[in-house]
Amino acid sequence: MMDQFPIVTLIVNNRRYQVQADPNRSLLDYLRDDLGLTGAKNGCDQKGICGACTVIVNGKAMKSCQLKLNQLNNAHITTIEGLSDGKVLHPLQEAFIREGAVQCGFCTPGMIMASKALLDKNPHPTRDEIMAALRGNLCRCGTYKKVIKAIQDVSRAESANHGGELEQVEIGAPLPPKMAVEKVTGKLKFAADLPVTSETTFAKIVWPRFPHAKIKKVDISQAVALPGVIAVLTAKDVPGQNAFGGIRADQPVLAEDRVRYLGDPIALVIAESSAVAEQARDLVHVDYEPLKPVYDPQEALAPDAPQLFPQGNLVCRFSLTRGQIEEGFRRSDIVVEGRFSTPAVEHAYLETEAGIGEWDEGKVTIRAACQYPQTIQRQIAAILDLPVEMVRVISHPTGGAFGGKTDISIHALLALGAFVTHRRVRIVLTREESLRTSVKRHPMKMNYRMGLRRDGHIEAISGNIIANCGAYEAFSIPVIEQTTAFATGPYTVPHVAIESRGVFTNTPPSSAFRGFGIPQPTFAVESLLDEAARKLDISPLEIRRINAVRQGDRTVAEQLLGPDTHLVEALDAIEQDYITAQQEIGDRPGWGVGIACGYKNVGLGLGEKDYANAEIEILSDDKILLRVGAIDLGQGSATILAQIAAHALGVSYADIDVEMGDTANDPDARETNASRQTVMSGNAVLHAVESLKKEIAKFAAVYYPQLRGNIAVEGKNIIDSNGQRVELAALVESVHADGKRLLGRGMYLAPQTVPLEQKGEGPNYPTFGFFANLAVARVDKHTGRVSVEKLVSAYDVGKAINRLTLEGQIEGGAIMGMGYALSEQYIAHGPNQTNNLAQCGVPRINSLPKELEARLIENEDSLGPYGAKGVGEMAMVAVAPAITNAIYDACRVRIVDLPASADKIRRALEKEASV
Ligand code: FES
Ligand code: FES
Repeated sequence: MMDQFPIVTLIVNNRRYQVQADPNRSLLDYLRDDLGLTGAKNGCDQKGICGACTVIVNGKAMKSCQLKLNQLNNAHITTIEGLSDGKVLHPLQEAFIREGAVQCGFCTPGMIMASKALLDKNPHPTRDEIMAALRGNLCRCGTYKKVIKAIQDVSRAESANHGGELEQVEIGAPLPPKMAVEKVTGKLKFAADLPVTSETTFAKIVWPRFPHAKIKKVDISQAVALPGVIAVLTAKDVPGQNAFGGIRADQPVLAEDRVRYLGDPIALVIAESSAVAEQARDLVHVDYEPLKPVYDPQEALAPDAPQLFPQGNLVCRFSLTRGQIEEGFRRSDIVVEGRFSTPAVEHAYLETEAGIGEWDEGKVTIRAACQYPQTIQRQIAAILDLPVEMVRVISHPTGGAFGGKTDISIHALLALGAFVTHRRVRIVLTREESLRTSVKRHPMKMNYRMGLRRDGHIEAISGNIIANCGAYEAFSIPVIEQTTAFATGPYTVPHVAIESRGVFTNTPPSSAFRGFGIPQPTFAVESLLDEAARKLDISPLEIRRINAVRQGDRTVAEQLLGPDTHLVEALDAIEQDYITAQQEIGDRPGWGVGIACGYKNVGLGLGEKDYANAEIEILSDDKILLRVGAIDLGQGSATILAQIAAHALGVSYADIDVEMGDTANDPDARETNASRQTVMSGNAVLHAVESLKKEIAKFAAVYYPQLRGNIAVEGKNIIDSNGQRVELAALVESVHADGKRLLGRGMYLAPQTVPLEQKGEGPNYPTFGFFANLAVARVDKHTGRVSVEKLVSAYDVGKAINRLTLEGQIEGGAIMGMGYALSEQYIAHGPNQTNNLAQCGVPRINSLPKELEARLIENEDSLGPYGAKGVGEMAMVAVAPAITNAIYDACRVRIVDLPASADKIRRALEKEASV
């Protein structure tokens, strides 16, 4: 068949290749599959949406997925692999690292190639020209500001190292992230980039045709008979418990008699090639009895609603009361109220779920991105009915997660496939599959009332919240518990009545997502507070200052707040911006400024055992290995933990290698979420370093009996009380020659917390971070289109361990918050169902605010290592209400249901004009 295509010549990275010009084959597939050039990525099912596949063709940046081989005869193609030899980086690669324009790294090769093509043509582009050139390249981590800065650096031939010396070990130094070189050169292998060996088999999933149905029969006979098919697995092939779940195992690995949403796998087809697996998938016949679906959580609570589970559709209920709510409203001079809603949102990590499952003499190994390998290991062991130690999970480099890779996705199927077939099984979900099956942010409907005194003090808040949990529990219960705990914002409120419920529906499960249940109530509270400030004629900044929690206050769940409470400082940090924005806006029509605040837990809290382990081992004079349980999702955990270790040990940052996420070798540090790893694993690293120093002193006393008194370690020297020195390198050599190890282990256990139902009996959370956001927005009153001109995010970070990664988190969170405010929404059913990445509404570089500023408030925290707090999740929590408050300021339209789309605003403006 292939012989019928003419031969074309391609010059790729200066090498000449001859290939048959299959008109159906994309350049991206050829580069990745035939040449092994996996720097170009597929983030959008080759639909031209993401730009992760960008290469340079005949001098122009092109999306390689959009080019067919037959169009490319004699084309000169440069991929990221052709940009440098890996020893000497291209100036753009250096600048991306130096400016912190690299987070997870999945978009980075495409971004760099698009930037190179731009600079080759236009060496001095303006900011607008850069944004125009890169508007086809999505970055879900939100690195846009730093990408522009990196390009401008190269354009101006700047190469100043902003304090990024590798030897520098000061806390706060903006050292280049670990793995950054691999990311900018395209060398980092994500799971879908792992080589396809002769042993590799390909698995495809049979998805249901209905969101709610009984399965009467699954007929695999035709599929199994297809040549090249190795196995077709159904529920009866699951040897152990056919269920998984972060809290309660209620989600089937393979659906047996019922499907509850379109993302329930029914069968797994494993074949010698991907094409055969796809063909066989279509030969699996499923006989359904469709059931009435229910999508709306309120409808799902009706007595005659379809029931997803025998116990009913109610997942959980939390209530939180304080004072006397009726009395609070009686004392109030004004009452503001509203019905708010927030949508389901797709995590939209650019890397879809991908992995490899392997079998080796009774052991199953899974390589796939995840946020807590040990919990996945335990769940897989139960599914396969194997002892835990017979399952190994290796968290692969992760192309973005944002909470969405905390739950099991394809891991259980990879394990099952490898276990049954004893083969190497590969799964790479398409974007369409990922959208269909992956967890989302909880959509919520919230009825709120807020009573205030004339002087601006909040007297009472009541809230009734209903959250759509989707088809399975996932992490819904802790998310909704947290929604409840944070339902009144970072304010002192004497009278409170909050009721929250989570409900099953036939939509994708809702679960962990940056902010973990807090962005939703924050939107409601911050909108009402804005409304109240206007009614009372008090500045929005002042009303927040009046009500802000301070040291000595209690949260609404009665946790006493200590000296690490810095909301007022966050407000102070944006005050001048607010004054300036007001002056600049003046009476310019369509412009407005908005403010919103928030606070968020650092650490799991709510009674969970919050711990982390770390190990540090000296391998040689200049190689120290740090093993941690934290996962680097692009947020910089590896960098920060290496920096903490280097500082504590007094050695160079470059000497520290970090290994993480392998259940066979690396310790357990629980989930990498809840903004917790800087604090939990950071403290564990400090303990490990202490233990290593003790080990060194112990060995030194044996090998160097001349040392006297107290033996201490100072960088690469060992020194005794008399000032006698011995080189650490010499000791390392001697210890290793005797077959011994220089190893330190550390564990950190955070102070015990209590769940919400035990409020007042102890702290609910280890610590909190506080923040204030300011937005300046411009609304086009004809189209309703909003452009965010300025975002300032002031965060109480404790102490910055690495300014560059911290700023990157805050800027990325601001961009994600902007998407939440204006454009992001996942639609689970109906004609507008979200099927591709473009429909997710993720912000592109051309919507980057002209000014995007991360303001770090540093007051050393009493819990975190060197006073640091985590910030990753809180960075998006209060951005949306700051923007919707700015929209109100601009055009007097109060958006109560996100996203604030242009259509919605235009309709509201038209309605207003017609009254
Ligand atoms: S894979 Fe080419 S644009 Fe997404
Ligand atoms: S760094 Fe751009 S998607 Fe992660």
